[in-house]
Amino acid sequence: MKISPSILSADFARLAEEVALISETADWVHVDVMDNHFVPNLTLGLPVVEALLKHSALPLDCHLMIEDPDRWAPQYAEAGAGSVTIHAEAAKAPIRTLRAIRAAGARAGLGINPATPVEPYEDLLGEIDMLLLMTVEPGFGGQKFLDVVLPKVRRARQLIKGRDLPVWLQVDGGVSAETIERCAEAGADVFVAGNAVYGADDPAEAVRNLRAQAEE
Ligand code: DX5
Ligand code: ZN
Repeated sequence: MKISPSILSADFARLAEEVALISETADWVHVDVMDNHFVPNLTLGLPVVEALLKHSALPLDCHLMIEDPDRWAPQYAEAGAGSVTIHAEAAKAPIRTLRAIRAAGARAGLGINPATPVEPYEDLLGEIDMLLLMTVEPGFGGQKFLDVVLPKVRRARQLIKGRDLPVWLQVDGGVSAETIERCAEAGADVFVAGNAVYGADDPAEAVRNLRAQAEE
């Protein structure tokens, strides 16, 4: 069970300090890379990730919401990201790219939007270390959790179990004290939380609470 707070909801002018706030209680730091093409929002890219790597005690979980992840993803892995997730909807050569991420020493993730079915990717489970299921439409923090994705979380867990693979199942979007139990019950084991952590008065305590709730 892992908590990966998303810095999308943090103060971008003080990223190193914001990451330090949760370094004792979280497992990963979720970094949302958006290019204003795959999603209607623009955040940060490789130079900021490279800078943040020097200041983060926790490994970076880079979520690439970009067109052309085939071109960019291996560079995040080579820079030292602990995990790099590409989107199924954007990758043109996902198997090659996932293998390049792993070859560069990072965990390889495959991301799937709320309306994208998981079944077409079943045969790729052996190529990945994490499956990311979006539980909001990607692009912005602070959106409402989409319950409609929960049956897919259950099916994804069954597919992973059926193949007996050590693939982590991440949920991303609208995860909060109110929704995390439903996600855990459906089989998720890595929880991204932006607003629920960085919108709280005490982000470190918010992470602790989320973990306790997920473990219930
Ligand atoms: C949305 C991003 C998420 C976002 C989650 O496109 O991928 O990681 O930061 O934020 P919350 O937890 O506020 O929904
Ligand atoms: Zn994300």
